[in-house]
Amino acid sequence: MDKIELLPSVLSADFTDLGRDLKEVEKAGVRTVHIDVMDGNFVPSLSLGFPVIASMRKASGLFFDVHLMVEEPGRYVEMAAEAGADRIGIHVEACRHLHRTIQQIRALGKEVCVVLNPATPLTALEYVLGDVDTVLLMTVNPGFGGQAYIPSMTEKIRRLRGMLDTEGLSVPIEVDGGMKPGNVRQVLDAGASLIVAGSSVFNGRIGESVREFQRVFAEYSA
Ligand code: DX5
Ligand code: ZN
Repeated sequence: MDKIELLPSVLSADFTDLGRDLKEVEKAGVRTVHIDVMDGNFVPSLSLGFPVIASMRKASGLFFDVHLMVEEPGRYVEMAAEAGADRIGIHVEACRHLHRTIQQIRALGKEVCVVLNPATPLTALEYVLGDVDTVLLMTVNPGFGGQAYIPSMTEKIRRLRGMLDTEGLSVPIEVDGGMKPGNVRQVLDAGASLIVAGSSVFNGRIGESVREFQRVFAEYSA
């Protein structure tokens, strides 16, 4: 079984004091943070850009999982890498030449994450699965924090786990959207191990929320 990990999504953090929030999650045992970049085109909203990521990089040694919700992300992967991304997530729906964009990320020496919107079939992954480090299944429609988990995604995670197992690939499955300590078991059961959570970590007492997820993970693994 892949190691279960919580990836707090800084979209819901306090943007006036990101350095403090990063330290807070790190103190609670987090190793990776999830950073959402939105272009107001691929998704309706705008979030933060590369100068902010570069500032975060100076303030933190955490692993940066950068989720690019932008059209033609190939235009930005170099900037993401320079700003301090360790893993770069690109949407299959946003890439005209997905395979090429994957190779661009590889050439930069960064980990590759391929992302699917809720309505995108798993078959979109068929010819790239051997080239990725993680697959991220969106469990809400991308663009905003605080939305409700889409229940049909549980079966999608299970099917992806099946595809990976059949191919003999030990690629971890990441999920993003609507995750809370109260509903995370179903995605773990289905085969996900990298759990992105924004509002349920940062809208409240950060350390306590992280520990609540960690308790569920520990019970699940026991
Ligand atoms: C949404 C982003 C998420 C967002 C999740 O488009 O990709 O990473 O922060 O937020 P929650 O956990 O509140 O659903
Ligand atoms: Zn995200």
